[in-house]
Amino acid sequence: MANADVYYELHVQPLFRSSDRLQMLFRFDLWKYEDVASNRDQILARLQLPAEDIGVMPKVNFGGPWPQEWLDLLNRWYATGAKRLERGSATYTAKRKPGGLIELAAKGQVPTPNYAVWFDQRPERATAFEFILYQKPGGKFQTSFATKIVFADPGPALTSIEVYDHDNAPLLVAIT
Ligand code: HEM
Repeated sequence: MANADVYYELHVQPLFRSSDRLQMLFRFDLWKYEDVASNRDQILARLQLPAEDIGVMPKVNFGGPWPQEWLDLLNRWYATGAKRLERGSATYTAKRKPGGLIELAAKGQVPTPNYAVWFDQRPERATAFEFILYQKPGGKFQTSFATKIVFADPGPALTSIEVYDHDNAPLLVAIT
């Protein structure tokens, strides 16, 4: 949908490459909502510079500058209140399934009707098996929700999965 709400985790953080983040960490963390929200003027100023300006970000010899559509999206995010996703809260199970799969599932309640709840991987994950439970208005769950994410089993060495939810502390879900 062309006018869908813009959220940091869904639409802004993915614009920043992990190498952009790495090379800018001396100043701020482009993968941290608070840093991108509070450095608005400097970030927009650098991204909007013409390609021939030495200060343009990302630097021209590192793949910059951004296309106009990305700038428009970032501007719209700031202009609409720099929204971020909420985190859900649930009970979790992780199971090995036939066909070499693992299923991580969550069940819980939504805060109000018409919510969406889903798993995504943590951007700054150390392994592939670190997930965040996100939620936002505009989905189809009315009171309770059930969501899952299914992925290839890397083998028996993986015994648990990390989930970050509203508590923002990694919760270890044992694989059964
Ligand atoms: C979308 C990606 C990027 C954004 C939004 C960004 C943003 C910025 C901002 C706002 C500043 C000014 C900081 C200040 O004055 O305190 C800055 C400086 C700087 N950035 Fe980036 N940057 C990005 C990518 C990169 C990349 C890829 C590199 C490395 C090649 C890089 C290297 C630097 C360096 C060395 C400075 C300090 C020197 C200067 O001011 O030009 N940045 N960047």
